[in-house]
Amino acid sequence: MQDAAASAINLWLETPQAEEVEVEKAKSWGVFLPIGLPGRFTAECDARQLTKVQGMAQAVTVWLNAYPSPDARLTEQPVQRILGGNQKGGVGKTFLSSGVAQACAEAGKRVLLIDYDPQGHLSSRLQIDGLPPGGESLLTHMKGKAERHIARSLVSLPHERFGGRLHVLPADVDAFLMDAELAVMQIGRDRALVNALAPIEADYDVIILDGPPNLGLAMDLGIHYVQRRPGELIERSGILIPVWTDKSSFNAYNLLNSQIQAVEKRTGVVVDQLGFVVNAYDSRKGTVTRSFYDAWNDLTTPGTLATLKDSIEGREASDYEIPLLEYAPDCEQSMVLRTLAKELTA
Ligand SMILES: Nc1ncnc2c1ncn2[C@@H]1O[C@H](COP(=O)(O)OP(=O)(O)O)[C@@H](O)[C@H]1O
Ligand SMILES: [Mg+2]
Repeated sequence: MQDAAASAINLWLETPQAEEVEVEKAKSWGVFLPIGLPGRFTAECDARQLTKVQGMAQAVTVWLNAYPSPDARLTEQPVQRILGGNQKGGVGKTFLSSGVAQACAEAGKRVLLIDYDPQGHLSSRLQIDGLPPGGESLLTHMKGKAERHIARSLVSLPHERFGGRLHVLPADVDAFLMDAELAVMQIGRDRALVNALAPIEADYDVIILDGPPNLGLAMDLGIHYVQRRPGELIERSGILIPVWTDKSSFNAYNLLNSQIQAVEKRTGVVVDQLGFVVNAYDSRKGTVTRSFYDAWNDLTTPGTLATLKDSIEGREASDYEIPLLEYAPDCEQSMVLRTLAKELTA
């Protein structure tokens, strides 16, 4: 306490224009100060024509502004950004991204789920036919050609359990052109997605992108978008990687890892890999499957965060085009997704 008070007064002495503080209901407290400091403090209060209570209140305020509490820093975090990424098709990117988004919204978070795969599986599985009237595609916004606010392109899922907090940016057919269009973009390509989403970031706690099934330019931008921003906590935003318990998933991950590193090197950013989610796991498939399962679980950087079994509810929810947490709220997968969402957003 003594050190903090002395540090505060010293900082205040160096701050000629400290703001006046409301002290009417301030409680008094005592603290010993190092030799010489009380005299300097009193003299400075006299010089600035302040009471000592006002001087001390200003000193504490200046100090608190200079050294915000860890809690204050936590509340100032940017929107959390998660990319469900793996170029391998059918591995569960859409299933996982959608499931985590649903669980986050159910738990009270404001969630934006982006269909970042031109095939639009995410949108169709949530029964979203396309952009709402007046909506412009994500690509239009990325090119800086949009005339309307990007919020006009969002669809809110109607299910009560999501409380109007789960919004989707649907895919548009022009998403198939995204890589080609990005390739000819001369200026500001790396920031195209950041710029497109900036106007709505403040409206959300979490933004989840359902990644494309390739390692093209759109994926580069997705990786870039979930980079760790200045001051952001480690492993808060980043890439969540669904994998299968087979050899080709390890090969696929090596390629993805190379792409992440290439983006980091080229643009000088840090991208966190949040972890693997072993998907569609079925231990009855034999010892090879089980040994791959153990291999994923033995990895530590990143580690494996959860296992989703292959389940009838999961497949039915997709086929009936109903969000899993709505279709089968109590099934094992829904529970696992809730635990995972909680862990990711803790
Ligand atoms: N754990 C699971 N249990 C049941 N069905 C699943 C599971 N994971 C994915 N699926 C289904 O498998 C298919 C492919 O998954 P999807 O999420 O579309 O993969 P990706 O987006 O990587 O191409 C979809 O029909 C999906 O609903
Ligand atoms: Mg998909």
